[in-house]
Amino acid sequence: MSKIIYQEKNGVAIISVDRPEALNALNREIIDDLEKRIDDIAENENIRVLVIGGAENFAAGADIKGMVECDPEEAKAFTFNSCYNKIMNLSIPSIAAIDGYALGGGMELALCCDLRIAAETAKVGFPEINLGIMPGAGGTIRTPRLIGYAKACELILMGNQVSAAEAEMIGLVNLVVPKEQLMETAMKWAEKLAKKAPVALAAAKKMIRTGLTMPTIEEGVAYEADAWAKLFSTEDQKEGMRAFLEKRKPEFLGK
Ligand code: CAA
Repeated sequence: MSKIIYQEKNGVAIISVDRPEALNALNREIIDDLEKRIDDIAENENIRVLVIGGAENFAAGADIKGMVECDPEEAKAFTFNSCYNKIMNLSIPSIAAIDGYALGGGMELALCCDLRIAAETAKVGFPEINLGIMPGAGGTIRTPRLIGYAKACELILMGNQVSAAEAEMIGLVNLVVPKEQLMETAMKWAEKLAKKAPVALAAAKKMIRTGLTMPTIEEGVAYEADAWAKLFSTEDQKEGMRAFLEKRKPEFLGK
C-alpha cells in the first residue's frame, strides 16, 4: 500500500507522506512512489502548482533503520537525487507546507520546492552530523545557495534543530503561520499562483535557478533578456497587457 497521499484541487496537486508511525521517515518505497507522482504531474497540463505537505510531520529524514547497515554503494539509494531533482526542475511552482519535523532528507525535500511555509510549531534542520554522516540528498548544496555559507555551516555542522521563527529569520522558510492555518495558507498561495500565466511562471522559475549558477551578472542578464523577449510570442503576454490597459482581470490560457 502506498505511503503517499495524493489529491488534486483547483489545478493544485497536493502530496503528503503517510508513515506517521515513523514520523514520515523516507524510505525507498516512499521516494519511488513520490517520483512516479512527480512524473505524472510533469505530464499533466491541468496541474499548475504542487504543494508537498499536510501531514502532522513533514518528514523526519531518511529512514535510519533502513540505512544503519548500508555499505557505501547501498547508501546511494538514500540520496533520493533523481526524485528530488525532478521536483526542483518541474516547470510549475512548488510549495512545501511544513508541519512538525522537517529534518535531514525531509528538509532536503522541502528545499527542492520553490517556496516554504511553516507552522509555528515546526522544527527543521540537518541532524545528520549527529549520526556520523552529513546531508546526502542535496542539503550541503542547496542550503548555502538559499541562506548563505555561514548559516548553512551553522545548521549542517552543529546539527541543531531550529524553530520555525528562526528558520524564517534566516530565509530558510518564506512564512510562518499558526499550525491550524498552514494548509489554508499554502492553498491560498497555490491558488493565486495557479491563476498566473503558466509560461511566464515557468520562464521566471527557470531563469531564477539558471541565474544562480551563472558566473557573471552580465551573462545572467543577457540570458534573462532572451528569455524575457521570448514571452512576447505568447498569447498570455498579449492578454495580460491588454487586460491591464482595458482595466479588467486577465484570463491566462497557458499559451
Ligand atoms: N528514520 C527512521 N525512523 C525514525 C526516524 C528516521 N529518520 N525518525 C523517527 N523515527 C521513528 C523512531 O525510531 C520511532 O520509532 P519507534 O517508535 O519504532 O521507536 C518513531 O519514529 C518516533 O520517534 P521518536 O520516538 O524518536 O520521537 P520523538 O518525538 O522522541 O523524537 C525526533 C522525534 C527528534 C524527530 C527523533 O525521532 C529524531 O531525532 N529522529 C531522527 C531525525 C534524523 O536524524 N533525521 C536525519 C536522518 S539521516 C538523513 O536524512 C540522511 C540524508 O540526508 C538523506
